Amino acid sequence: MATHVLLIVLPALLFSVIMADHIPLQDFCVADVGNNRAVLVNGLSCKDSKTVQANDFFFSGLHLPGNTSNPVGSRVTPVTVTQLPGLNTLGISMARIDYTPWGINPPHTHPRASEILTVLEGTLEVGFITSNPDNRLITKVLSKGDVFVFPVGLVHFQRNVGKVNAVAIAALSSQNPGVITIANAVFGSKPAVSADILAKAFQVDSGVINKLQSKF
Ligand SMILES: *[C@@H]1O[C@H](CO)[C@@H](O)[C@H](O)[C@H]1NC(C)=O
Repeated sequence: MATHVLLIVLPALLFSVIMADHIPLQDFCVADVGNNRAVLVNGLSCKDSKTVQANDFFFSGLHLPGNTSNPVGSRVTPVTVTQLPGLNTLGISMARIDYTPWGINPPHTHPRASEILTVLEGTLEVGFITSNPDNRLITKVLSKGDVFVFPVGLVHFQRNVGKVNAVAIAALSSQNPGVITIANAVFGSKPAVSADILAKAFQVDSGVINKLQSKF
């Protein structure tokens, strides 16, 4: 009986400890970009808090449209810990996303963050795909002012289905959410995954894989 209680309580206790660890134990840890000292917090060292300035918590430029002249017709302008060192340890970040008509933000995942997306201008078709074995597509068309959430780790995408440019703002639950763009990761890895592995995985001829690999 005691063993059973322990089996239930112990994971819950560990889980709560892990959750508590997400709350910073200091006001902030402004990432000391470029200084590789021995003590790192979330992969970055902290600036001496006495030298911290307002600009460490500041980013300017999200009013500017991103350049969408590229094969997918979209541009993500990220504001993560890389662009805004004050985000370090705070567990949040954001991005502006611009889309030309029929432009897509291709299928990708954020390994460390859920994403909540708000449409500022235009009309977006959005979707995410649930895990195996269901792989269900959850999709919706969004208009200006609409909000949609992409759960952490799941493959998701957006497409501008309107006649004019679209703009969205995304908020993410990590200062360093990470991005894995499916096509780039699978067909554009360095070095390349063997074409015969991908041919079997995707159930196509290796010629199709070679063509895909040449594009990434
Ligand atoms: C946008 O990107 C394209 C392709 O890289 C480039 O040719 C063009 O000059 C860029 N436009 C601006 C305004 O930066």
